[in-house]
Amino acid sequence: MENDSKICFCKNIYKSEIIKAIKDFNLNTIEDIQIATEAGSICGTCLIDVRVILKQQLENK
Ligand code: FES
Repeated sequence: MENDSKICFCKNIYKSEIIKAIKDFNLNTIEDIQIATEAGSICGTCLIDVRVILKQQLENK
């Protein structure tokens, strides 16, 4: 995954925005990310990538 690739095509959300939201709001779940960024809130196709990003961020805490 590129460092700043577009993750959610429905909502036009980039990886950097998801990482920023995880850090800024101390998010721990996919649902938190959906609420904070709207990524994954339409078709759900991007949730696989969102999950990978969340896992990486939680491991790097
Ligand atoms: S690509 Fe993210 S909800 Fe559709």
